[in-house]
Amino acid sequence: MKIDVRFDPFELDELELRGKNIVVVDVLRSSTTIAVALNNGAREIIPVESIENAVKISGSLFGDVTLRGGERNGKTIQGFNLGNSPLEYTEATVKGKSIIFCTTNGSVAMYKSRFAQNLAIGAFVNISKVIEFIKEIRQDFHLICAGRANSFSNFSLEDSVCAGMIVHKLSADKSVALESTDSSLASQALYKSYGRSLLKMMKNTEHGRYLTEIGFLEDIKIAAAEDSYPILPVLSGNVIKLRRDDARHADGETPSTSKVSA
Ligand code: MLT
Repeated sequence: MKIDVRFDPFELDELELRGKNIVVVDVLRSSTTIAVALNNGAREIIPVESIENAVKISGSLFGDVTLRGGERNGKTIQGFNLGNSPLEYTEATVKGKSIIFCTTNGSVAMYKSRFAQNLAIGAFVNISKVIEFIKEIRQDFHLICAGRANSFSNFSLEDSVCAGMIVHKLSADKSVALESTDSSLASQALYKSYGRSLLKMMKNTEHGRYLTEIGFLEDIKIAAAEDSYPILPVLSGNVIKLRRDDARHADGETPSTSKVSA
């Protein structure tokens, strides 16, 4: 199984991603926030690529079961119900709700991946679930780091370290025949350099420093807590839902082990 890592997804288009197996990684904060929202009972997340599309879609859905969430420059978009802080996505707020989700980088990468064969949303908070999923499918995977549209390089260290951690754990697993690529080796090297303290690493990244400056240090702490939300958000139709096994588990039923679809 070959694992490839994309550090700069901005040139990718949906046709290239069609039919592929993909994990979108946006540690700060979209992937983390989606994991928290679904864990707290949100019905589904509908990722969109633009505010205009968010407004258009929400016009055609029932207002009492739909929320609009997302950010621009890290802050809540005018007219939206929620920003992109995982702390806002409490059970009281999101339970049973469909959330139209529009962020600068994360939701764009998810939207572009909407024709994937399998799409999972990955972060440190659910990393073991992501690894289990990749091992279960056992086909080539693309780890797409959502990146940073507003920086010159588009490169995001925290996403790359998270991708590197996935690669590292898979390569340490004797049951997996992993074929490395240059990008997966590079991400693994980043994880080895920066992975000892995820919180320290994230506080020092450009986006981590920016989030701290605008008052979201707590979000970084949530995002750094490995496996604190052991659930898997996956693409199901055009929306992102809790993977069926995890949904059953959340309802108190015994999870079954061999399903791949959502
Ligand atoms: C993004 O999609 O660019 C983000 O998740 C930014 C953020 O809200 O921290």
